[in-house]
Amino acid sequence: MLVLIAGITGFVGIPCARSAFARGLKVRGLARNINNLPEDVGKRLEGFETLSSPYDIAAMDRATKGVDAIICTFAGIPEMFMESQLLLIRAAERAGVKIFHATSWNYDWTLAPGSHELYDDMRGFAHHVALSSTIKPIYMFTGAIVEYYFKRSRYDWNPDTKTFSFHGPSTFPTRYTTTEDIGNYVLEAITAPDAADGGFVRVQSFEASPEDIVKAYNAAREGRTTAKLNCLGSLQDAEDKLTEGRARNGKGGWYNFIRSSLVNYTTVTRDIDAPIGQVWGLVADFGAEKAWYPGAKSVSLEGFGLGSVRTFNYVYPAGKNKGQEYIFSEELTEPDYPDMVAFGTTVLDSLGPNKTRFRWIAEGSPLPDEFMAVLREDLNERFDGLIVAIVNQLV
Ligand SMILES: NC(=O)c1ccc[n+]([C@@H]2O[C@H](COP(=O)([O-])OP(=O)(O)OC[C@H]3O[C@@H](n4cnc5c(N)ncnc54)[C@H](OP(=O)(O)O)[C@@H]3O)[C@@H](O)[C@H]2O)c1
Repeated sequence: MLVLIAGITGFVGIPCARSAFARGLKVRGLARNINNLPEDVGKRLEGFETLSSPYDIAAMDRATKGVDAIICTFAGIPEMFMESQLLLIRAAERAGVKIFHATSWNYDWTLAPGSHELYDDMRGFAHHVALSSTIKPIYMFTGAIVEYYFKRSRYDWNPDTKTFSFHGPSTFPTRYTTTEDIGNYVLEAITAPDAADGGFVRVQSFEASPEDIVKAYNAAREGRTTAKLNCLGSLQDAEDKLTEGRARNGKGGWYNFIRSSLVNYTTVTRDIDAPIGQVWGLVADFGAEKAWYPGAKSVSLEGFGLGSVRTFNYVYPAGKNKGQEYIFSEELTEPDYPDMVAFGTTVLDSLGPNKTRFRWIAEGSPLPDEFMAVLREDLNERFDGLIVAIVNQLV
């Protein structure tokens, strides 16, 4: 059996590929960049088609040719759910493919229409396909994906402070599924005798409440580190935040409120004349501030997490104090605003062999407008300066 995984470089696509290989199936990939695949997957592919844009019909036609089943693991963004996936299903119809697993793996979005902007899009896709296609897709509901909550989203689990944030009762269980289990469930679904009949599949790996999580973490660490709970409010509070977020951002600003009213503080963008590999080399070397700041003579770190102390030894690289040395230390202490969540994300996009777009995105809990303006100005200046300092190391 030859399986096409569309969006194979994503965090659901990769485990699906591994699960297919474990069953002895052949796998073809479709995604933007084959270099985003781990070696164990990339090397074993039957073939790979490059998607030049979310609307690349020619690549979809090449990718679907001769395959027995398609697993669409396109990203959870409206354009991909609705448009790319629809173009892919049309390509699948032309290629005569009957088995199609749609991108889904969320809570059950057949319930509560109007309560979640992205879920409405998924429901819209399913409805449109049911009306207009000969293909009957499989949709899978998994609850929360474990690795997403605990590795990718610092909003839910903060790995530095070991804090789990949530709304509602701390004893209320959530359904979780691991990506490895998703890979196995999906492969079971597409190889079942009635796979072409499609339908809704509901699965889970386990259920756990916020209290269960903290208890399990603390037991596993045997007292060496202690996890904490951070209740962000009641379920009614969560609903109120969503209503306020909708009123403030409108539908087009869904990203700002869909995840418990996380707002975008600022996005600093600069295009750099250097290959993405070189920029990544500096960014990924997070401990090496020496390389980021031209004036740094040495940087040292004692301890780890809360209580750790970082000491900088600087010499002014320019200006009236040029050549003068100074030393300062900073200690990581308990946050002053424990209910506030804030984090930054660095995104690099390759724009060409010698051009990279550098984006630094700051997001966090909503703030009063006057604080927001001050924070935005400060972040813009500091991160623009930081990107320039990084660029100067490279060009
Ligand atoms: N329940 C949960 O907790 C949870 C959590 C996360 C995701 N999900 C669901 O899982 C599914 C897959 O999401 P995912 O997190 O695996 O997605 P992902 O890792 O962000 O991306 C999946 C694929 O989409 C591609 N892609 C992303 N943006 C693109 C763009 N603008 N143009 C073209 N290709 C693009 C990625 O390519 P690159 O590798 O080049 O970026 C990758 O191949 C979605 O249905 C999502 O809703 C559920």
